[in-house]
Amino acid sequence: MDFTSNHRPDDMARINTPELAQAFIDEAVAYTREQVGDGKVLLALSGGVDSSVVAALLIKALGKQLVCVHVNHGLMRKGESEQVIEVFRNQMGAELIYVDATDRFLDLLAGVADPEAKRHIIGEEFIKVFDEEAAKLEGIGFLGQGTIYPDILESEAGVKAHHNVGGLPAELNWELVEPVKLLFKDEVRVVGKQLGLPDNMVYRQPFPGPGLGVRCTGAITRDRLAALREADAIVREEIDAAGLDIWQYFCVVPDYRATGVRDGKRAFEWPCIIRCINTVDVMTAEVPELDWALLKKMTKRILDEVPGICRVAYELSPKPIATVEWE
Ligand code: XMP
Repeated sequence: MDFTSNHRPDDMARINTPELAQAFIDEAVAYTREQVGDGKVLLALSGGVDSSVVAALLIKALGKQLVCVHVNHGLMRKGESEQVIEVFRNQMGAELIYVDATDRFLDLLAGVADPEAKRHIIGEEFIKVFDEEAAKLEGIGFLGQGTIYPDILESEAGVKAHHNVGGLPAELNWELVEPVKLLFKDEVRVVGKQLGLPDNMVYRQPFPGPGLGVRCTGAITRDRLAALREADAIVREEIDAAGLDIWQYFCVVPDYRATGVRDGKRAFEWPCIIRCINTVDVMTAEVPELDWALLKKMTKRILDEVPGICRVAYELSPKPIATVEWE
C-alpha cells in the first residue's frame, strides 16, 4: 500500500477480515516507523472511532514517541472521557495528556442560545485548548490525524474543509501522520477490533463534535446538561441491553419547563425527548418502531432517576423534514 498517496487504488481489497486487518496493521506500523524515525507525534484523541483507531495503531508503532491529548469540553457523554483514560493510558500505556476544560467551555457558552454561535464557540475553543497544550510540549515534529477516505473524497469535492488542523500555528509546520486515510469507516472498525479496542469504542454511534451542547438546546446550563447526560446514559444503556441495532440514539433536553407533580407539590421541570434514527447516509432518516415495554422502561427510569425531568417523549419525526439533531 502506498501510504503517501491520497488515491485509493481501484483494485485495493476491502479490509473485512481479521487477517486482512492484521496485514494492514503490519504494513502501517512499518511505514509509520520509517516516516517518524525517532521523532515525536502529537494526536488529538477525542474518543471517536477514527482517532481511537489511529491512536491504537500509533501506540503499537511508536510507543512513547506518541503523545495523545484528550480535551474534555464538558459536553461529553457520561463515562466517555473516563473510558479514553482507562483504555489508552491504563490499558495501552499511552502517553496521554488529559485536559478537563469543562469550566472554560461552559463559562464561554453561558447565556449563548444561538445554535451556530454555540458550535462556533465550541470549535474555536477546542483548537485554542489543543494549541496551548501543544505549545507546552517539546520536540514534536508530527501531527497524527484520524483522516479516513471519505474525508479526502469530500474535501476534493469541496464538501468539507480537509482535516481539522485549522487552528494550529502555521510556524509549527508539522508533518502529518495519517495511517488510515485510504480506509473506509467499516475497514477502520475491523482494524480497531484487531488492535484490541473495546467494541463500544469500535462500533460507537456517531457523536457530533459539539457533543451534548446541541442537545441541551438554547443557552446551556450546568443543571440541565447534567440531567441530559444522565437521561442519555439511561437510554444508551437500555437500547444496548435490548441488543437493538439502531444507527443513532440519544436524548434532548430542551430549554423549557413543563408542569409536573413531585412529592405532592407542583413542580416545573424539563421534558426529555428520546430520539432514535436509522439511516444509510444521514441525508434521510427513519424512526424505528421501538417496543412499547422498552419505551415504558426508559421513561420510568428517567423519571425515577434523573432530577429535574418530569416528562419523557419519543420523537416520531423522520428526516426530512426534521434534522437528526434538534439544533
Ligand atoms: P443533522 O442534524 O444535520 O445530523 O440531520 C446529521 C448527522 O450529523 C451529525 N451532526 C454533527 N456532527 N458536528 C458534527 O461533528 C456538528 O455540528 C453536527 N451536527 C449534526 C448528527 O449527529 C448526525 O449524525
